[in-house]
Amino acid sequence: MNYGLRTNNQEEMTKKLYNYKLLLILIKISTMPKTIIAGNWKMNKTQAESKEFLKQFLSLIAHRDESTEVVLCVPFTSLETVSLNLDGTGVGLGAQNVHWAESGAYTGEISASMLTEIGVNYVIIGHSERRQFFGETDETVNLRLKTAQKHGLTPILCVGETKAQRDAGETENVIFHQLKEGLVGVDQNNLVVAYEPIWAIGTGDTCESSEANRVIGLIRGQLENKEVSIQYGGSVNASNIDEIMAQPEINGGLVGGASLEGVSFARIVNFQ
Ligand code: PGA
Repeated sequence: MNYGLRTNNQEEMTKKLYNYKLLLILIKISTMPKTIIAGNWKMNKTQAESKEFLKQFLSLIAHRDESTEVVLCVPFTSLETVSLNLDGTGVGLGAQNVHWAESGAYTGEISASMLTEIGVNYVIIGHSERRQFFGETDETVNLRLKTAQKHGLTPILCVGETKAQRDAGETENVIFHQLKEGLVGVDQNNLVVAYEPIWAIGTGDTCESSEANRVIGLIRGQLENKEVSIQYGGSVNASNIDEIMAQPEINGGLVGGASLEGVSFARIVNFQ
């Protein structure tokens, strides 16, 4: 009678199965897209105003869910002040543009090493306002993405359609084209994509969360790395963030207007 032996074997098997399941869960967690909430301050806030914002904002997010990455993409002039004030807070720092050259005669531009020296980790590239007002093309977006990555910055690539393109049924084509051209030679292991329908930016006219979820699913389908974090951007605010973040394809938000005020941006970061 080997009852004792069988019990031991069963215990061993149960233990092994448990460890195996635990391993599977850990693998799944480590390959899931990160949740990233980024504020895009655009051309707002002096250094003094930036400091003022941080005092309130940082206290309001002190007990946030640590699995959510928080990033502040501030004007170049505020980067250093914000960097110093973010020390030890776990909040990431982002710029809103970067040039592709290492240095040189590019008046008004900023290089990647100028950013990394200050402690910048993220950079928004190809925002629709840069495409619309400053002649940004898929080609220059691509150059900026590659240079950012070369310097260890994580680019947040913005894509999105105009109202006219949406009405003409061109949404998918436009976005797929932006992705195809923008991502040539880009490492998808160090990339965030933001789907920002242009008609929803700064208008209060948020894209229906189910529609944003659908388009983001299509964007994921175009990517080689399915674990890229894909954010939604366009009139995200404290009242609609919970519904947006409940969508399965959406891994975060790129927030403009509502990131300028500590209380509203903290509520967004602390979404439920
Ligand atoms: P908004 O801007 O939240 O003010 O619409 C978003 C963005 O442009 O990134």
